Amino acid sequence: MTPVVSLRVVRNDEAAVSEPHSEFASDMLAALANHPRGISPKYFYDAEGSALFDQICELPEYYPTRTELAILEGNAASIATQMGPRAEIVEFGAGSLRKVRLLLDAADAPARYVPIDISGEHMTQAATLLRRDYPGLQVKPVVADYTQPLTLPPALGGTGAAGGRRIGFFPGSTIGNFTSDEALRFLRTAARTLRGGALLLGADLIKDPARLHAAYNDSRGVTAAFNLNLLARANRELAADFDLSQFAHSAFYNAPQRRIEMHLLSLKRQRVTVLGRHFELEEGEAIHTENSHKFTIDSLRALARSAGFTPGPVWTDPESLFSLHWLEAPRT
Ligand code: TRP
Repeated sequence: MTPVVSLRVVRNDEAAVSEPHSEFASDMLAALANHPRGISPKYFYDAEGSALFDQICELPEYYPTRTELAILEGNAASIATQMGPRAEIVEFGAGSLRKVRLLLDAADAPARYVPIDISGEHMTQAATLLRRDYPGLQVKPVVADYTQPLTLPPALGGTGAAGGRRIGFFPGSTIGNFTSDEALRFLRTAARTLRGGALLLGADLIKDPARLHAAYNDSRGVTAAFNLNLLARANRELAADFDLSQFAHSAFYNAPQRRIEMHLLSLKRQRVTVLGRHFELEEGEAIHTENSHKFTIDSLRALARSAGFTPGPVWTDPESLFSLHWLEAPRT
């Protein structure tokens, strides 16, 4: 008991002092100091945020997950042909590992699965369930921020050896959550990581703004809770004092930029404290928390090409809501 109490005291002291001691801390402080205010969406995904995100994927209004799963299921045979035998699947931002099951079921004797995710606990639990269901598969989770350079276990090797091609899997239109510079940088790094293999990438398509709007403004308020969790997380981890009832979720389609933007709006003029520093927020002031860019099939293929990939087959649904792209990585 005693050690826990003293640990708490130490933490409070640290909070009162000024040095930010995590990337979340320094980025959150920078977000509040900058004008306009904005922060990377990667901080949404603590354990709470990851659980809320799983709920978003089940929402009736949130068509992307369901549509992407249907595209995967409906084209499993052609995707398996592209992958070839004994593939090694590397997933960027693996979350609850639901989608990869369809790939694993389709694939011809997949050799290894390497999920990469920033939310370690969430992924480790999911990996345990996956191992139970796929006893022959090597599962090697990597807890990391895949937007940063990272070291993966060495590739299994050529088709003659234990493993076949290395296939990247980047579903959920997460590519759209990057700026165009970040997307290009991510794809260039992925092209190197996947040399000789390919990337299977999911991208949400431009459509009626009303449909897009509904997807990010669900009637049950789960997306709002997900957005607000960023402030709740700051309260938990950064000794912050955000009053969640004084902030509103705002998500809208910015048509010229072809993206959904998510913001947190301050409902009144208020002062907030994070790690002992104070910030004034104006009534109606926004903290920009996320972009979700929408693509055309051609704009995504052009982006992939500029990163060094050779676009291959594209699969979509009957309503053209979502697209799944096969992108060949360079050989050398
Ligand atoms: N990348 C997906 C998208 O932009 C999923 C996602 C990320 C999301 N953050 C979200 C969905 C926030 C809803 C709200 O759609």
